[in-house]
Amino acid sequence: MKATKEASVMGTPAEPGAATVRLQCLDKKCGATYPVHDLANECTACGNLLDVRYEWPKIDPAALKQTWLSRKMSRDQGDLSGVWRFREIIPFLRSDESIVTLREGNTPLLESRKAGAYAGVDAVLFKHQGFNPTGSFKDNGMTTGVSQGVALGKKVVACVSTGNTSASLAAYAAYGGLRAVIFIPSGQIAGGKLSQSLEYGALTIQVEANFDVTWKLIFKMVEEAGVYLLNSVNPFRVEGQKTIPVEVMEQLGWEPPDWIVLPGGNLGNCSAFGKGLREMRELGLINRLPRLAVIQAEGANPLYQLIQQSIAQGKSPFEIGLKPVENPQTLATAVKIGNPASWKKTLRELEASNGVCEQVTEQEIADAKAIIGQSGIGCEPASAATLAGIKKLAARGVIRSQDRVVAVLTGNVLKDPAYTLAYHQGTLAYASEGRQLPVASNFGNRPIVVRPDAAEIKRLLTQGSEPRL
Ligand code: F0G
Repeated sequence: MKATKEASVMGTPAEPGAATVRLQCLDKKCGATYPVHDLANECTACGNLLDVRYEWPKIDPAALKQTWLSRKMSRDQGDLSGVWRFREIIPFLRSDESIVTLREGNTPLLESRKAGAYAGVDAVLFKHQGFNPTGSFKDNGMTTGVSQGVALGKKVVACVSTGNTSASLAAYAAYGGLRAVIFIPSGQIAGGKLSQSLEYGALTIQVEANFDVTWKLIFKMVEEAGVYLLNSVNPFRVEGQKTIPVEVMEQLGWEPPDWIVLPGGNLGNCSAFGKGLREMRELGLINRLPRLAVIQAEGANPLYQLIQQSIAQGKSPFEIGLKPVENPQTLATAVKIGNPASWKKTLRELEASNGVCEQVTEQEIADAKAIIGQSGIGCEPASAATLAGIKKLAARGVIRSQDRVVAVLTGNVLKDPAYTLAYHQGTLAYASEGRQLPVASNFGNRPIVVRPDAAEIKRLLTQGSEPRL
């Protein structure tokens, strides 16, 4: 991307008053640092994940907020991206020439009183990441990850995915002129997502195993082949996703909500939100942190289990360590992950924000999804775990009815139409201990088949004009 002078990326170490940037091991005791052009996703000293760490220049928070806002009026591609518009908080690129953007971000914050009433709070504010170019929050991180790949001179990029990362990677790689190789668990991702990867031209490898097994198989191999790995363990992916809460704060007039609620799978997104929020506080853009709530599906709940164990034993969860769920099961296939890579990073953010982790059942996810749909908003199954989680946390008094609650809808309703159709037609079922269990169609909306008969159709029309409850 060619940029105007005004729009050039800040943060090149050569610039006076710019941020300095390095990679650093997440483990404080280790603390190993690496140059920002290092290709590793893991600390070579201890094997933990890496963070992008900045030393910020002195900034004027009010002026920066004004700059960010004014870029919405610009014609520059970088300014119009809802990620690069906030480039002063992600200053890791040496030049904006390598930026690959599809105008991601700039997603709405939609208030729903109906969803609030369902969950037992006044209202829920949905940050709808499904409005992104490929229909999920992955685009926010993929623009930064692929741009860093281009900056490093990489020609081939890869990921293991439950469907959204792969769709996003395929699109950004194609747009940036790179080759994408994606690995997905065969038969275990939603049709919309698979079709996207094929359409965007990615080499699509369906492995006959689940996400965790595939990840273990591929992780080292990809790096050894000199291919740039763009899973959320890649610290530059996290940088882009970090701008989602920045945009939320801007939309809320820089007044932090009480809660930000996210679905949890590989746990990269929660770690990105936490990092973004902490950095905004460091920079004086906000004065306090909202509490983070991560919601996991009951059949894929390793973080929830770890935190419960830690509470029961009175021990630090870091000390206990995460015990993977061997055979994760959920119809919310996006979060069907038993051994999340970023669990330590997410735990760090839950601790920093006084956060919580909740689990929800298949029925709770399905019903919450239908309510989000009935609100005119709609989302894919994993995203609906947020509303189901808010309902549970409100019932337990953890979230209070008057609390300001932001829920992140991570994916578009069109991602998984098979799920939606099955729910409304009363055929949704999930596997549990070798059995198929039904999900009740509590808020189902069955389609009506009708003969081409005028009187019959008229009767239905009148029925349709009765006010809906
Ligand atoms: N919601 C959706 C729609 C997702 O696609 C994912 C993750 C999550 C929530 C959970 O986010 O992993 O950062 O905790 N999808 C990944 C993928 C794993 O491959 O598309 P997380």
